[in-house]
Amino acid sequence: MRYTLPLTDPILSTVDVCVTLSGLRILDGVSIGVPEGTVTGLIGPNGAGKTTVFNVISGFVKPASGSIRFDGRRLKRIEPHRLTSLGISRTLQGVGLFPSLTALENVMLGGSSKVRSGIIAQALAMPWTDTEQDHLRERSIAVMTELGVETDAERLPGELPYPIQKRVALARALVSDPKVLLLDEPAGGISAGDMADLAKLIRSWVPHRSVLLVEHHMELVMGVCDLIWVLDAGKVIAAGSPEDVRTDPAVLAAYLGQEGAA
Ligand SMILES: Nc1ncnc2c1ncn2[C@@H]1O[C@H](COP(=O)(O)OP(=O)(O)OP(=O)(O)O)[C@@H](O)[C@H]1O
Ligand SMILES: [Mg+2]
Repeated sequence: MRYTLPLTDPILSTVDVCVTLSGLRILDGVSIGVPEGTVTGLIGPNGAGKTTVFNVISGFVKPASGSIRFDGRRLKRIEPHRLTSLGISRTLQGVGLFPSLTALENVMLGGSSKVRSGIIAQALAMPWTDTEQDHLRERSIAVMTELGVETDAERLPGELPYPIQKRVALARALVSDPKVLLLDEPAGGISAGDMADLAKLIRSWVPHRSVLLVEHHMELVMGVCDLIWVLDAGKVIAAGSPEDVRTDPAVLAAYLGQEGAA
């Protein structure tokens, strides 16, 4: 997928977003965009503000100023439980599955806002019986099959190896058939072989979906992204193709600074 900066009509963008938490400026005028049909990376050292960007897009954190645009319009008031019905879904850093629900029930929750009002307490009131929910169950099983975890449908998350839990979490994000998928460190804690499969999987979604990928594994990021934004201390310090970003002196300095601090 080709793009030029500045982007003309990204499917998702943050416009000059500032976030202050506990009196600290966490994001300072962050403007990034995801061109439609691309895998776009958002990278940067620990604490740069990547997850906070996802939290703003998904309505968990209210920006002090700035806005979010999606699919040609400004999103005014973002409510986390309505995100999937807009066409956006996300995975959490880690896995974030409900430990007392089966893998299948967890995946079904990802599509529940289309079925009911999306309140988790309602969604947890199993068993679900009506036709819509039967369809959701079928769709959830189909997505789990696509990700190779259908045989684990009736297991609890705690019984599953970590890479399988990550796949279940991915299935939960995919079941609503999002236009844009926000992935927060999908490769965290998985093996090199699983990472190669993950790279293929992510590329298989475009151009049908657009992906914003936060990830520390540079090989994965450089291998799958069409465009990469780099954050450091709450500001965008670089953007461009993987080749541009890999050799950018500001990016190298930011990562070296992190190693020095470790
Ligand atoms: N609720 C909060 N109150 C105060 N500071 C916070 C809060 N949440 C996050 N921060 C701080 O905001 C900064 C950005 O955090 P964020 O989680 O967005 O970083 P990140 O780029 O996702 O890092 P990592 O790569 O480690 O996941 C960090 O310094 C973090 O400590
Ligand atoms: Mg993070």
